[in-house]
Amino acid sequence: MNILLAGFPDSETTGAGEPSQAERAEVLTVPLGTNSYEIHLGPKLLPQLGHLAARCVGGRRGCVVSNRSVARLYGSQTVETLRQAGMDVTLIEVPAGERSKCLRQARRLYHQFLAAGLDRASFVVALGGGVVGDLAGFAAATYMRGIDYIQVPTTLMAQVDSSIGGKTAVNLPQGKNLIGAFHQPRMVVADTDTLRSLPRREYRNGWAEVIKHALIADADFWALLEASVGPLLNLDTACVGHAVRRSCEIKVDVVRRDEREAGLRAVLNCGHTIGHALERIAAYGHLRHGEAVAIGLAAEAHIAVSRGMMPAADASRLEALLVAFGLPVRVDAPEPTAVIAACEVDKKRLAGKTRVPLPLRIGSVTIVDDVKPDEIREAVAHISR
Ligand SMILES: NC(=O)c1ccc[n+]([C@@H]2O[C@H](COP(=O)([O-])OP(=O)(O)OC[C@H]3O[C@@H](n4cnc5c(N)ncnc54)[C@H](O)[C@@H]3O)[C@@H](O)[C@H]2O)c1
Ligand SMILES: [Zn+2]
Repeated sequence: MNILLAGFPDSETTGAGEPSQAERAEVLTVPLGTNSYEIHLGPKLLPQLGHLAARCVGGRRGCVVSNRSVARLYGSQTVETLRQAGMDVTLIEVPAGERSKCLRQARRLYHQFLAAGLDRASFVVALGGGVVGDLAGFAAATYMRGIDYIQVPTTLMAQVDSSIGGKTAVNLPQGKNLIGAFHQPRMVVADTDTLRSLPRREYRNGWAEVIKHALIADADFWALLEASVGPLLNLDTACVGHAVRRSCEIKVDVVRRDEREAGLRAVLNCGHTIGHALERIAAYGHLRHGEAVAIGLAAEAHIAVSRGMMPAADASRLEALLVAFGLPVRVDAPEPTAVIAACEVDKKRLAGKTRVPLPLRIGSVTIVDDVKPDEIREAVAHISR
């Protein structure tokens, strides 16, 4: 027996012709009244998209929005399955990268939706990572006052985080996600096989949000992650499927209780106050979102330890797990005043209060609103190389 897999579903095939437990797709429900939807996750799901989509969108006409590299890998398969289900679909490509999450690209999409004949009964499929999901979701939220969309996330980051919860957005030159809308998808179809083509750095990037979910909500899941780093990094189907599912369940549970981020949903921002601040400082523009969050988690855990709220041993375990997944926990010394100023941007948005989720121990988090500039300064020293 492979002890590393203890607690994860069995990878072996169960019987002739039957899918193994690892190969079975799972369905989670996001219970939001009339905005409820299903998340289908597991391997071999993309070819079933047409059949699944036919159940949840009203009309038959739609656009698949993707970026060039993802379209090259999965575009024709996606269009094919939808056409086989009787849908009339057009594939639209946007340039890859965060820069395409902008109003200019949203406008381009509106024009292309019109040219493709989309009306209020039509739908959009967002095929790609969080950038495509946020942009296509935003275009769907605003085109003709809102049309249906389906999230087909193809990065780990998008499968465990950005495709769930209905937050859609584009960036302004002044900051990320400044224009946006809450618009829940009609369905999420996360085919874990698509993770196999992800560049390693993008794959590791997504684990930061999985680790965050375990940190804030589930010590058992945490222990499983600690025990299974190897199989998870090697894309063991059963292990990855289980981890993606548990991570989604944690996010769903928070979103279900606070759809519009009135309070509780802020716990999902653990590691993001300082993580976002680093992303805002130009010198750290090379950091992927998950990498910035990993450093942010290390910094914010340090604040929690300094306050006597979190055992130092738990903060060490947090850093060790992030490092085991190939994520950074240190950066070239940032200028503390720049980090403090960048944290202030969030504060302005929240009517003068920075609500910072701080871990209490592995599996538990609380929200405080009195983090002082000196605490940020000390946390910055901690994460500085
Ligand atoms: N809406 C939310 O709740 C939420 C939550 C977290 C992050 N986000 C947003 O998500 C974005 C980051 O998302 P991301 O990390 O997925 O980055 P991304 O969308 O930029 O994708 C990363 C790269 O991976 C490539 N790629 C995608 N899928 C692939 C595949 N299967 N095989 C090969 N290459 C593939 C893409 O072309 C891209 O170059 C940010 O804009 C962030 O603000 C939103
Ligand atoms: Zn995040």
